[in-house]
Amino acid sequence: MPSPAIDAAWSTLLALGRRPSARAIRPLFAADPDRAARFTHRAGDMLLDLSRTSISDEVLDALLDLARATDVPGFRDRMLAGAVVNPTERRAAMHAAQRGGAEPSVQAALARMAAFVAGVHGGAMRGATGERFTDVLNIGIGGSDLGPAMVARALWTPRAPMRAHYLANVDAHAWQELRARLDPSRTLVLVASKTFTTQETMANAALVRAWLVAALGEGGTAHLAALSTNLPAAAEFGIPAERVFGFADTVGGRFSLWSAIGLSLALALGWPAFESLLAGARGMDDHFAAAPLPANLPLLLALAEVWHVDVLGYPARAVLPYDERLSRFPAHLQQLEMESLGKAVGLDGAAVARATGPVVFGEPGTNAQHSFMQLIHQGPTPVPVDFILVANPDHPFADSHRKLLANGLAQAEALLVGRSLDEVRAEMQAAGAEPARIATIAPHRVFTGDRPSNVILLPGLDAATLGQLVALYEHKVACLGAIWGINPFDQWGVELGKVVAASTLAALEGRPAALHAATARLVAEIDRLQAARGG
Ligand code: F6P
Repeated sequence: MPSPAIDAAWSTLLALGRRPSARAIRPLFAADPDRAARFTHRAGDMLLDLSRTSISDEVLDALLDLARATDVPGFRDRMLAGAVVNPTERRAAMHAAQRGGAEPSVQAALARMAAFVAGVHGGAMRGATGERFTDVLNIGIGGSDLGPAMVARALWTPRAPMRAHYLANVDAHAWQELRARLDPSRTLVLVASKTFTTQETMANAALVRAWLVAALGEGGTAHLAALSTNLPAAAEFGIPAERVFGFADTVGGRFSLWSAIGLSLALALGWPAFESLLAGARGMDDHFAAAPLPANLPLLLALAEVWHVDVLGYPARAVLPYDERLSRFPAHLQQLEMESLGKAVGLDGAAVARATGPVVFGEPGTNAQHSFMQLIHQGPTPVPVDFILVANPDHPFADSHRKLLANGLAQAEALLVGRSLDEVRAEMQAAGAEPARIATIAPHRVFTGDRPSNVILLPGLDAATLGQLVALYEHKVACLGAIWGINPFDQWGVELGKVVAASTLAALEGRPAALHAATARLVAEIDRLQAARGG
């Protein structure tokens, strides 16, 4: 809710943003030899370096004042204490509690999951033909897919107890590809859906159940388990209560990998790894709850976003993990951040006064460098970057890893320092270029510099550090929700498309449907193209 203190904090910040030097980063380093150290913060195993931003001491003070005026600490404490911080859905946001605190219901849920995992790994639970399960297939979408799939991609090694597979898209090409790699007699299937009504997941679950039954008879349905808050719907689908792993509806989809939704991880990676993931996230929870605001990593990351999005007007952010194993981390953050923060209405029901969540996108480095980095270096609007670097690899190829790190560090430095027209001209002259060629080409080779980035450095990538990393961004999202006065835990924006899809599906099935003229035109074209192929 707006208040004089909040208005004053924004006014101060916006005034700082109007200064001619507001975007300049290099002069901050020139004025302070300690800047890199002073803007580096630590929590657990993680280091966060915010020095490559135009956040000065004065700007940081103003940002922290905004955090206090918008009562980020109060929101954080209420969230962690289980208060209703998601008022539009009348719910608490209990994802942090799932990470294995003292709550008895959480302990009981984890104990059930652990017993199930032990049964599968120990061979007490086997497939319909008596074979041991070697593969787990998670069918889910959005938060019931992205978090677990991202973690499995990051942490799975050939030494892990089971292989994990993820089926999300209702596009059955995905299932066709997966099916070719799976043996039904050795595949355990988890239907992961908080609501157990999601069209894509229920369609895929029906396909996979039919595949199990075709191969194994009705006994094949014993390969199915459910991860859901909707126990009656899971029962109706034919999954008995002993194979349904529930969780509370206070756990949002994009925050749910710590709950039963993480069961594929516990199966594929082993229980100790899953526990270590939870413990890592708990470490970040403790830091978030207790660290002073000027040293609180999730808050600092959120404040850098406020500076870039609201004050400097940068509408996007790139996430570049310099670790191939984190290739799905940008996809996870896309949902976590954009589904949480892409809101135009505040908690008071009024239109928000300024920009909220930016567009988030990313790719692992170095691949990103050969893709969209051109725009980030030379496009007219700067795009702040989160670089995620990992000091120690889990492979023996030290030279490759040095090259990888060198590239990550170089990108952050190149964005910061740039290359001036004079430097380009001098270089071209030294290389013997013709004056006319220099005059034509030099402007194209200029890098403005002063392009911001945050750097996160981890000692290695394992379950504990990954848990910290994911929780860091979850709490950053909570801070931004409080600062912007929006609800970061609902997602009404995904509903309209689902409603309209009911009509478009009816039309494609040849049933009467009220369609927009533009859609009707395309449906007619699709009908024509399908008829031409005999469809
Ligand atoms: O459509 C968006 C969404 O509701 C996400 O918030 C959620 O993670 C996803 O769908 C999947 O929902 P469910 O787990 O209920 O199938």
